[in-house]
Amino acid sequence: MADYIIAIDQGTTSSRAIIFDKKGSIVATGQKEHEQILPKAGWVEHDPAEIWRNVQEVIGLALSRGDLTRHDIAAVGITNQRETAVVWDKTTGKAVYNAIVWQDTRTQEIVDRLAADGGVERFKPVVGLPLATYFSGTKIAWILENVEGAREKAEAGDLVFGTTDSWVLWNLTGGVDGGVHVTDVTNASRTMFMDLETLEWRDDILEAFGVPRSMMPEIRSSSEVYGAAEDSSLLRETPIAGILGDQQAATFGQAAFNQGESKNTYGTGCFLIFNTGEEIVHSKNGLLTTVGYKLGDGPTHYALEGSIAVTGSLIQWLRDQLGIISSAPEVEELAKQVDDNGGVYIVPAFSGLFAPYWRSDARGAIVGLTRYANKNHIARAALEAVAFQTRDVLDAVNADAGVDLTELKVDGGMVANDALMQFQADVLGVPVVRPVVAETTALGAAYAAGLAVGFWNGLDDLSANWQEDRRWEPSMEDGERDRQLRLWRKAVTKSMDWVD
Ligand code: G3P
Repeated sequence: MADYIIAIDQGTTSSRAIIFDKKGSIVATGQKEHEQILPKAGWVEHDPAEIWRNVQEVIGLALSRGDLTRHDIAAVGITNQRETAVVWDKTTGKAVYNAIVWQDTRTQEIVDRLAADGGVERFKPVVGLPLATYFSGTKIAWILENVEGAREKAEAGDLVFGTTDSWVLWNLTGGVDGGVHVTDVTNASRTMFMDLETLEWRDDILEAFGVPRSMMPEIRSSSEVYGAAEDSSLLRETPIAGILGDQQAATFGQAAFNQGESKNTYGTGCFLIFNTGEEIVHSKNGLLTTVGYKLGDGPTHYALEGSIAVTGSLIQWLRDQLGIISSAPEVEELAKQVDDNGGVYIVPAFSGLFAPYWRSDARGAIVGLTRYANKNHIARAALEAVAFQTRDVLDAVNADAGVDLTELKVDGGMVANDALMQFQADVLGVPVVRPVVAETTALGAAYAAGLAVGFWNGLDDLSANWQEDRRWEPSMEDGERDRQLRLWRKAVTKSMDWVD
């Protein structure tokens, strides 16, 4: 068998291809950012054609940097930004509208309309999610209601929907020439349409949203052969054998396979996932119920999730919108210039507030400003906002679980930031632990694909690959932690009810 697995990570800001060896070490990487299209306040779009071009390019980059060809690759895994909705015409291969990104809040009116009959928790017992602009369901409905001719074409059976895993898979397996239209259980669990128990689309919910069932991809497990890359692809004939939504992939890559295990990923947003094993647990504290993974015919593993919409993207906002830093890593340099936040707190409710508040009417707030505050304080407050939001979510996980987590496994781009990780341990009051391979998202997708083709024999092989790299111990006095949390929570209340 070939010696490597390639994972395609189609994320919010970039697409990457990462090649892993049997030890789970990175052999080569290709990465390309795509445009963030921001047509109006609250709207966020991506160009699906650009995404597909970039995916092909990064596959080529990774292969050439590793000096490898398709013959060295045993299987392909796909992981993706989860709720971002693409609707395309399967007869032309073209999207009928830009992808509507998970952060986009334009569908509030559809949420309100659906919630008028039964409230925002109306479908939650079945799908595990409250009605919110975050999930892909209302985004599909918006496209059908607002793009000229879309509904007729959808009803004629020409339009199909997919999150970006499906979009990439369909194109990679041939597109209009027989592309495979499939998604996995983890991505399906983010639409609002999948029954968590049966793992099937619910006709009554699709109907309530006005979405024809013929648009929906087939739901499959996270680890099985879905098809092979088409002939013109650099990966031709290579089996595509794993799909996991990026947060579930990171959990898998962290080898958090069992009930009670968890991880927090610091990307564009932050997502804390707590594995509840084969049990579907409904949160009483603002968490989502979601599918963790399902390997082939094996049992379904479920999870509770605390989703935070804005963490890394707050740092991008400092760079792109405020211009107080020229590159993301500079935020740490600025933050280190000051001993504290100078009384400044930032609540980055750019897409409303997700877990545990679920307040789509919240808006961003910077509070505690005095003339003394400077850009170093703002940078520090931005990093602290990441840690405070994670604390709010961890409190909800502890309350739902009935036992407190004793440490937090972390991964994602921002865990390279030492000051942030120390502050995170300080505000949580528990150690924060980073693995050697912090690219756990891509690794998880590679694991799912590798398991399906026998590249790895089982979960024990994967657990043996996990190694601790660094651990941050909490060092803040309890009184100081309490004071900071009190001020943070006051700031959160200021961000609510802002919309007229
Ligand atoms: O739910 C949204 C999440 O899947 C996006 O993750 O890593 O692309 O910011 P990321």
